[in-house]
This record gives sequence, C-alpha cells and structure tokens, in this order.
Amino acid sequence: METKATWYTNGKSKNVKVLVCKDYETLSKKAAGILAGIISVKPDAILGLATGSSPVGTYQELIRLYEAGILDFSQVKTYNLDEYYPLEATNDQSYHYFMNTNLFDHVNIDKNNVHVPDGNAADMNEACTSYEAMLDEIGGVDIQLLGIGGNGHIGFNEPTDTFVGPTHVVELTESTIQANSRFFEKIEDVPTKAISMGIGSIMKAKKILLVANGEGKAKAIADTLEGPITPQVPASILQLHHDVTIIIDEAAAANLKEYHA
Ligand code: GLP
Repeated sequence: METKATWYTNGKSKNVKVLVCKDYETLSKKAAGILAGIISVKPDAILGLATGSSPVGTYQELIRLYEAGILDFSQVKTYNLDEYYPLEATNDQSYHYFMNTNLFDHVNIDKNNVHVPDGNAADMNEACTSYEAMLDEIGGVDIQLLGIGGNGHIGFNEPTDTFVGPTHVVELTESTIQANSRFFEKIEDVPTKAISMGIGSIMKAKKILLVANGEGKAKAIADTLEGPITPQVPASILQLHHDVTIIIDEAAAANLKEYHA
C-alpha cells in the first residue's frame, strides 16, 4: 500500500491524522495536494510556510501544479515561520532567499503578499510584535505547513522549560546549529539566533500540516504523537490543536507504537 492513514485521538474530538507514505515523493505529493486543495477552493488562501529540506518536495509539486495550469497563486498570501538573526533577506543563506528560490520565484505569487519575519531589523522587539500583529489581523493562517527538528522543534521553537507564545527571538541549540550547518560552508557561519513564530502563533493556524521523513525524525515524531505534551518536545503541543495532519515516510514512523501495534 502506498499510504496508510492512522488517527491519533487525544481526548474528546481532538484528532491528529497521520499518513504514513512509502517514500518522500509520495509524502510530498500528498502534502502538496492538501495545500493545492485549499488554494483551489479559496484562491486568496493564507498559507503559513516553512523552510528546511522536508518541504522542498512539497514546493516542487506545487510548482509542477502551477506550471500545469492547475494552480494560481496570484491572490495567495504567505507568512513564513522563521528567519535567522541577524541575516539580511538577500543573503543566500536566509530563509527569505530559500523561499524565493524554492517556491516564490517559480509561481505567480505577488511578492507583496509574501511575509517572512525580518531577521535584520534595527529593533527586533518591534519586528516580533509587528509580525504577531499581522498574524492577529488575518485571524490566523488557513493552513500552517511545518517541518520538525530532530529534537522536536517547530519553527525555531527549541526545547525549553516553558512554551513561548508569540513571535520572539530565539537562541538556537547546539544540535540545531549542527543540523543546519549542512547548508553553510562552515559551522561558524550558522547564525546562533533566529526570529520565530512562537507556539501560540503556530497554534493560531486553522489547520496544521507537518511533514517529516527519514530515521533522524523517528524519535521526534514518536515523542510528538505518543509522548506527553511538554515544552521539551515543542511539537507535542500539536496534540492540543483541533486539526492536524502529519505526513511522514516509513522511516520517520519507525518508533510509533500505536501505528505498528
Ligand atoms: C530548521 C527550521 C524548521 C525545520 C527544521 C527541520 O531548524 N527552522 O522550520 O522544520 O529545520 O529541517 P529539515 O526539514 O531540513 O530537517
């Protein structure tokens, strides 16, 4: 079977739907299909977007659908999760640059409708407050796409003692700096800080779609779905969201007890 669906029920009517796909390509097509469906029924959909290698295949499929004339991004608005700090949007290591090269430059999106947190603002507190105010103004994104860090981080919300609600400046953990150094020439080049939507900002989304692949994500996925809700595993908060879909491959599903039961 190409894809197997499992429901994780976290009390009352709160559900997390988990789709386990045979490979990364299938996973990416499924995720893109969900985003495409939303854009089709709501041409001015507001998408929350993510960076990292996990959503790259999803973006490639969205580009393919656009090129095939199936998708129109002309009215779509986007809000990205995070950005390195300090880093200019034009820097080729910035998440803004990543979004341009991996999606925005290849579809007919109006760049005025694109929002990425400012990682180079003179006043970072103000940058955080105004980003959060924008999210409040739109009443939350229609769907938030997420990857997940090997330590369970979402956006750049690293494991901590308390969940942080709004957009804020974060200190990256050593493991995240190590993991992300693969995109930089040398580890010293990886910024040690970032501006990120907080857990509260992410939870404002009407729908959440998380994609993950590979064995390096297996523990984080199991902790997210089957462990306690704890700020030590930031993604575990998703158990409290009313509409979450998690699309993973077999390797990322390896540690799920309920799925393999
Ligand atoms: C970064 C990003 C996250 C992303 C994570 C996983 O730290 N801030 O949004 O989910 O990395 O990245 P990858 O998909 O490359 O494994």
